[in-house]
Amino acid sequence: MSRIAYVNGQYVPHKDAAVHVEDRGYQFADGVYEVCEVWQGNVVDMPRHFDRLGRSLRELRIDWPMSRAAVEFVIREVVRRNRVRNGMVYIQVTRGVARRDHFFPTDDVAPSIVVTARSTSPAAAEEAASKGISVITYPENRWPRVDIKTVALLPNVLAKQEARERGSKEAWYVDVNGMVTEGGSTNAWIVSKDGVLLTRPAEGGILRGITRAVVLDLIAREGLAFEERAFSVDEAKQAREAFVTAASTLVMPVVRIDDTVVGNGHPGSTATRLRELFHTATDFMAV
Ligand code: PDD
Repeated sequence: MSRIAYVNGQYVPHKDAAVHVEDRGYQFADGVYEVCEVWQGNVVDMPRHFDRLGRSLRELRIDWPMSRAAVEFVIREVVRRNRVRNGMVYIQVTRGVARRDHFFPTDDVAPSIVVTARSTSPAAAEEAASKGISVITYPENRWPRVDIKTVALLPNVLAKQEARERGSKEAWYVDVNGMVTEGGSTNAWIVSKDGVLLTRPAEGGILRGITRAVVLDLIAREGLAFEERAFSVDEAKQAREAFVTAASTLVMPVVRIDDTVVGNGHPGSTATRLRELFHTATDFMAV
C-alpha cells in the first residue's frame, strides 16, 4: 500500500508530496508542528496537542490554516488512508508561500499545512523500553523560546546526531548552571536517590510536553512523591532512575548518562510502571 500525505488541500502520494520552494517553512523555519501518537486506532491526546498548536501559532502570529474541526478531519483521514493502527501523525503549519523576504508577507498569504502519518512497531518499542536507552549531556545552545514547538530544530538535530555517534539515543541539554533542561526531542526526568520523581518546571527552558503532562496526571493519581524542580547532571548520575517522555517514545527508561550507569543499569520500576499505566491517563480520538 502506498503512503498518502495531505498538502494544502490535497491528498497526494507521499512520494510526490511537496511544498513550494518559497514556503517560509523551507526558507526560514517559519512554522510550527505537532507529533501525536496513534495507539490502537486512536489519535492520543488530540485536544492537548491542538491547544499547544494553537498556542505556538498565536505566539508566532500565524493564522490557523483552517478550522480546528477541519484539521481534525484531515488528521483522521490521513491516519485512515495510511491504515495506521499504531504509529505517529505529524502536523506542520507554516506562514505560507511568499517571495523571500524576512518581513511577514503583507498580502493575504494562506498558511501552509501538511499532515503525514506512519506506522511504528509496538513490539520494537517495548523491546527498546525493556532495555532502556543511554543519553549524552550536551551544552544548551537553543533560543530561549523552546516553549514554542517550531520546526527550527537544527540545534536538536546536531545534538541528537552527536548522541548517535557516541552510541546513545538522546542528548540531554544542560544549561549554564549545570542543570538539565530537556532532551533533543524529549522531556527529562529522574527519580532522585531519595526516591522523589523530578522534572524541570515548564516555565523555563523546556517544551511543555504533552506526554509530560499525562505523566504528571498519573503521578498525582498514583500519589507518587514528586517535585517539579530542575536537577543537575550530577544529581541525575546519582539518581535511582532516569527516563524521558515524548509522544514518540512514551515513557522510555534511561540506563546510562554519558559514561555513568544509572541505578543498577536496568530500567527502573517507577519508569516501567508509568509506561505500563500511560494509556490509562490519555484521551483518545477514534479514527
Ligand atoms: N518531540 N521536548 C522537545 C524538544 C521535543 O521535541 C519533544 C517532542 C518533547 C516532548 O513533547 P511531547 O510529549 O508533546 O511529544 C519535549 C517530538 C515527538 C518530535 O519532535 O518528534
